[in-house]
Amino acid sequence: MNQNLLSTSILSADFAALEDQLRQVEKAGGDWIHIDVMDGHFVPNITMGPFIVETCHRITQLPLDVHLMIKNSERYIEPFIQAGASNVTIHIEENPNVARTLQEIRRLGAHPGVALNPGTPASAIEAILPFVDMILVMTVNPGFSGQKFIPESLSKISTVRHMIEHSSLPIRLEVDGGIGRDLAMQCIAAGADTFVAATAIFKHPGGIAAGISEFKQAFK
Ligand code: DX5
Ligand code: ZN
Repeated sequence: MNQNLLSTSILSADFAALEDQLRQVEKAGGDWIHIDVMDGHFVPNITMGPFIVETCHRITQLPLDVHLMIKNSERYIEPFIQAGASNVTIHIEENPNVARTLQEIRRLGAHPGVALNPGTPASAIEAILPFVDMILVMTVNPGFSGQKFIPESLSKISTVRHMIEHSSLPIRLEVDGGIGRDLAMQCIAAGADTFVAATAIFKHPGGIAAGISEFKQAFK
C-alpha cells in the first residue's frame, strides 16, 4: 500500500500572498501542490495556465500535481511539463486518444494520471491502467472548490482500488473535491491514498497549518 499523501490545491489560496501561503504549506508538511487548470470549455470556470505552474516551481520544491480540466489536453502537455509539473492528470472524458497523451506525458518526463468525473464509471479506465501512475476519482463535479463531497464516490473508490490491486501496478489513487479530515478517513477506508484539498486547508479557521495537521492526523 502506498503512503498517504496530501496534495494541497491552490484554487482557494490567496494569490496576493501565494509565496507566503506555499511556504506555510511546506512548513506544515504538505506533500504536493495541486494546480487546477480550467479552460471554460471542459468545465464552467477559467483558472490557471503554465505561467502559474512556473511561478509555483520557482517558489517551492514540492512536487506540482497538475490537474488539467481542459479540452484538447494533448496540445498543452509540453508547456505544463516545461513549467515544472511533476504529475499531469488528464480527464478520460475529454480526450479520445487518452492512451497516446498519457504516453506522451511519460515520454516528456512527468507522471501521467487519468481523472474520472462523478458520472463516469470506473470501467472506463480499465484498458489504460498500464499507462498511468495515478488515477484521480473526482468526488465533486469539476469546476469549483468548496463543493459538497458526493457520497456515491466511495463505492467507485473501492472499485478502482480493486482494479489497481488486480493489476499489481504501483498506481496511486487520488480523490479530489469536498474532502476534509472525516471524509479523508472514509476515503482511506475505501482505498484512496492521495488527497486533494483546497477549502479544508486555505479556509481552515485555524489557518493553513491547522488544516494540514488535521489531514496528517487522519493519515496515522
Ligand atoms: C475541483 C478541483 C479541486 C478543488 C478542490 O474542480 O479539481 O481540486 O480545488 O477544492 P475543495 O477541496 O474546496 O473541494
Ligand atoms: Zn483538482
